Amino acid sequence: MSDEIQASPSGKSGFTRRRFIIGTVGVGAASVIAGTAVRAPRALAATPPSGPPTTTLPLPTTTAPEQLLLTWGNDPAREVTVSWSAPGTVAQPAPTLAVSTRPITAHNPGRLIKMPDPEPLDVTRRYDAASSVSFTDGLNGQTTYFYHVQLTDLWPGTRYYYEISDGAATPSTAGSSFETAPFGRAKFRFSSYGDLSTPSWDLNTSGNIWHESCDNSWYAVTAIENPGDGKGAPLFHLLNGDLCYANLDVDNAPGVWRDFGNNVARSAANRPWMPALGNHECEFGVDTLAGQPGNAPGGIGAQGAAGNHWNGPYGFGHYLSRFLLPDNGLINWDGNRLRGNFYAFQVGTVKFISLDADDVIYQDGAANYVIDTANTAPETTTTGAKIPNGTTNYTRFYTGDLKLNPADNSLVPDYASGRPNLQTLWLESTLAEARRDPSVDMIVVFMHQVPMSTSTSGNGSDLAIRQAWLPLFDKYEVDLVFHGHEHDYERTYPVRGYEPGELGTVVAPNPGQTKGAAVDTRRPAVVTTEPYEHNGTPAWNTAEGTVYLVLGGGGTNGPTNSYGTDTTDDLPQAKVITTRNEVVGSEATGFAKNGADSVEDAPWSAAINPTDAYGYSIFDVDPGERRGETTITFQYFAIPAVSNEAGTAHDGTTTLPTTPTETFVFGRKVGGR
Ligand SMILES: [Fe+2]
Ligand SMILES: [Fe+2]
Repeated sequence: MSDEIQASPSGKSGFTRRRFIIGTVGVGAASVIAGTAVRAPRALAATPPSGPPTTTLPLPTTTAPEQLLLTWGNDPAREVTVSWSAPGTVAQPAPTLAVSTRPITAHNPGRLIKMPDPEPLDVTRRYDAASSVSFTDGLNGQTTYFYHVQLTDLWPGTRYYYEISDGAATPSTAGSSFETAPFGRAKFRFSSYGDLSTPSWDLNTSGNIWHESCDNSWYAVTAIENPGDGKGAPLFHLLNGDLCYANLDVDNAPGVWRDFGNNVARSAANRPWMPALGNHECEFGVDTLAGQPGNAPGGIGAQGAAGNHWNGPYGFGHYLSRFLLPDNGLINWDGNRLRGNFYAFQVGTVKFISLDADDVIYQDGAANYVIDTANTAPETTTTGAKIPNGTTNYTRFYTGDLKLNPADNSLVPDYASGRPNLQTLWLESTLAEARRDPSVDMIVVFMHQVPMSTSTSGNGSDLAIRQAWLPLFDKYEVDLVFHGHEHDYERTYPVRGYEPGELGTVVAPNPGQTKGAAVDTRRPAVVTTEPYEHNGTPAWNTAEGTVYLVLGGGGTNGPTNSYGTDTTDDLPQAKVITTRNEVVGSEATGFAKNGADSVEDAPWSAAINPTDAYGYSIFDVDPGERRGETTITFQYFAIPAVSNEAGTAHDGTTTLPTTPTETFVFGRKVGGR
């Protein structure tokens, strides 16, 4: 451990008030010297574009397969889905996938799977084993193509080779290999972060700068293929939402997704990448919330004002076209299948659950057109779609309703409304089943938005996650929960239950709130601030309390690693979002959107990294000898920001440290208490 201690311990409030400050500076020069300075290949453009394009740029009309992407099927030991895309707006002529346990050669052509003709995304239908999907962006009109093969009946722990062909007269091919998950109790490694974004111009396929582009996004992918400890790439990666921020480039969302897909393919062609939905996956378009074509009178330009401002189902059309994920089997109240919106899978003795927090949070989605200038014209796009000022995509309760239980300030599925929240019901049944299952030792949940964050420059802690899902995480003793959304690193102490009472204060009132009023933030209760030791490594017993990790340092150009402290008592302080952050104003005056409304002291905050916003996490799972003995060893590797990212001397380099900035063991039997 080479952590520094921020403040002296104090007996006040019953907890030692230490919060570890970590980072590549904090751990000393050794790790930097030992690190590997990496430089990526130079790109197309010799000089940087002046900024994000403001008109729709054409996409290629070539068909060579690219953006290779692996994901797990329902059973990672036996099922893997291979996905890829055409570069642009022309479908592949006759695409095929060849698969074999030996390399694909002229002498070993493998098992050949021919792809059907593409059909537009339709989430009311089931997918065939081989499916070709097209999606037309509602704002720029570009149609792009995605191909999915669901491989089943694979051998566990086995390497498979694959090759994709576009089937052109002179075919173009691409391929790689992957390993299925091991069978039964076995060791494995996985990794995680969120908020990946796209690289900048010199490392993007397109040569463009997008709104959130930053070359740290390139190095984040590099790091997964070659983790700093030299012990090899993970079996799979968890991507905690805000994948590429395509919704911010309203004229070029398909182009942003393409650059994301090609950056990620450097790893995702070799191992599954399992995503969670974030707010930036929710895009403006011209469909209804359920994803049906908007048909209000007045044509395409009238749809936004009529409320039809969604790009596919719930705005997630690009995401749902690109990823074919494990099936939760649910059909939503509107008739859409909810496959991939949230899902679960098991590897070894660990159950993994991906959630879509957009469904419960007070915060809105990230497709916003909120301008504080009077009489602002609608956002007008290439297709003629118009998004009126003051429009925000808000998807809360899209899988059904939750109601407040005043007895404990929790949110529970609302049967009285006739459409209880399906995701929360599914979460409870999935957790209950996992805890009954003798083959599951530990439960890892990953989602985008955050119930506990002390970031001052980021979004803050969303009370609704504490109200709706933390009671379930407590009841079923979820071990670890990962997030993104805040572009930084934060770790909590183990927490269980909450401290009743009004421990928050309104500082930026939403309508109906009073500045200075006390507010019940359902503040999570700290179990302990002192780690155990497990084979010489500090360890937290996650049977005693759940540990929450903010891992949002994938690579966006907007780091948010400034953290709050209450100057009156020197405790960590968190912004808390306790009501919908309302958009207020009018066409005549302009609009404004509130941020977090309240603050609370945050004794749950255990570690922060003010030095480096970026980083990746490596987790090594060891099942031990007997049931319940699984441990997960966690290493966090901070990554310094790339040099000269914004300057004319842009060189796009950083140092990938070989020494972790934090190492802990998590387990349910560690510590012996
Ligand atoms: Fe983000
Ligand atoms: Fe986010």
